[in-house]
Amino acid sequence: MKRRKILTLSSGTLIALPACSSKKGDEGSKVGKHGASSSRFGNQPVRLGANTQYRPPAYVNKGLRNPNMNLPTQFSGKSVTHSRGLSNQPYVAMTFDDGPHPKNTPRLLDILRTRNIKATFYVIGSNVDRYPHIVRRIVAEGHEIGNHTYTHRKLTALSNSELRSEMRRTEDAIVRAAAVKPRTMRPPYGALLQRQRSLVFSDFTYPTIMWSVDPNDWKRPGPSVVRSRILRGAHNGAIILAHDLHAPTIDAMPGTFDDLLSKGYQFITVSQLLALKGQA
Ligand code: NI
Repeated sequence: MKRRKILTLSSGTLIALPACSSKKGDEGSKVGKHGASSSRFGNQPVRLGANTQYRPPAYVNKGLRNPNMNLPTQFSGKSVTHSRGLSNQPYVAMTFDDGPHPKNTPRLLDILRTRNIKATFYVIGSNVDRYPHIVRRIVAEGHEIGNHTYTHRKLTALSNSELRSEMRRTEDAIVRAAAVKPRTMRPPYGALLQRQRSLVFSDFTYPTIMWSVDPNDWKRPGPSVVRSRILRGAHNGAIILAHDLHAPTIDAMPGTFDDLLSKGYQFITVSQLLALKGQA
């Protein structure tokens, strides 16, 4: 019969150990493996050669990191349009429109993650249906999703029912992909009539989110120009517009983020910016 030793872990779990370590004398005069090694080395510590193969894990980001911004995201208020947050705190919201893109969005997410920066993505519904796994990753990594219509048409020419359909189809696609509901919208080309803004606010509770810093990155002026335009335009409460479907925009982001962090800016999402605004 094999004897087993029962150990109780601090979690209360019982585990059974094999009998070989249970009791002296079990193995009689036989010098087992353990006995042999203890007689060879006595009580002296075992000396091992230097482990020349060991390398510490790579330190991924030696640069600046955004602090954890555990701010409330619930906002209320009657304003149907916002272009900026409060000017008395060094908070900025980085927004990326027109994705998700199968290559550029994951690359941007890597850049954001190494700096602990949370951004807001105004996604196009048809792209959400094409790349739902990227939307799930955006949400899983703590970013916010906003509604940027399903077909990216200019909304000012649409009927109310067409406008509602653009909002509804995109919201449904986002919920299907990532089980979250967008809380704000941004109109393609920034074009939305005042009465349409009121309609999406009353029907979907979406405030219309414009921007206060526009580097015109969609005209592809090159990464260094995008970076310097954002840096020059940045201010407390800025909502910064960029597009994650353009590769040169993504190329500009590491330097842009590091510049803004070194100037003392902290990155928060659009809902966090609006929640702070509501408290003021
Ligand atoms: Ni757009």
